[in-house]
Amino acid sequence: MIRLGVNIDHVATVRQARKTVEPDPVAAASIAEMAGAEGITVHLREDRRHMQDRDIKILRKTIRTSLNLEMAVCEEIVQIAEEIIPDYACLVPEKREEVTTEGGLDVVGGFARIKEVVSRLNAKGVKVSLFIDPVLEQIEASAKAGAQYVELHTGTYAECWGNEEKTGKELDKLIKGAAFAKSKGLRVNGGHGLTYQNVKPVAAISEMEELNIGHSIISRAVLVGLDRAVREMRDLMVEAVRFKSE
Ligand code: PXP
Repeated sequence: MIRLGVNIDHVATVRQARKTVEPDPVAAASIAEMAGAEGITVHLREDRRHMQDRDIKILRKTIRTSLNLEMAVCEEIVQIAEEIIPDYACLVPEKREEVTTEGGLDVVGGFARIKEVVSRLNAKGVKVSLFIDPVLEQIEASAKAGAQYVELHTGTYAECWGNEEKTGKELDKLIKGAAFAKSKGLRVNGGHGLTYQNVKPVAAISEMEELNIGHSIISRAVLVGLDRAVREMRDLMVEAVRFKSE
């Protein structure tokens, strides 16, 4: 059965907007797990724009499903991963100026370094996934680099949503990429840009084991949770005024 990995980075994004203590991604991870998430995904970026080192250390101890750490192959983060030992590591490209991960990892171009990081993480018992576009050469290189998984980048597919022809072409690349990856002995995950509207065709790809979804789930959580949050704050204020006049 397909698994859902919930990416909780944007809970930390809201916290970091004020550099305060709430909302705590550690609490968000527990709620996501209680709601049925089969894994928790976090990206510790070099610039620490959302997740902080403290989050990863606590999450490692509190997560009851599995911790998937998205990370660039930069030495500082690799050493943190070797220390924390997540269940899974997903190697991603990272640029400081990007709003979110743009494009897949160039495994062909960065082969030697990626292979080295895969083998260092594997030596610690961490299963490694490479976040790549559904391009056959990249999939082949991922298998050669010794990765256990590829996470197929669904961003381009998601961006085409609304244009049936383009979406169909991108979906086809994901379907063919997933089958090719499996034929090379790789296990297949997917993620990026998936929403309540576009998730079904990707979830239906036979080889797809796990989808990692963040922005859309956290966005929906803000809206479906807002009604209760406003009511609770208002109740507190009204209670205080009543208490004063009693
Ligand atoms: N998978 C990877 C490798 C990512 O970098 C991201 C974004 O952090 C996601 C999945 C989740 O993407 P989204 O937030 O668009 O659902």
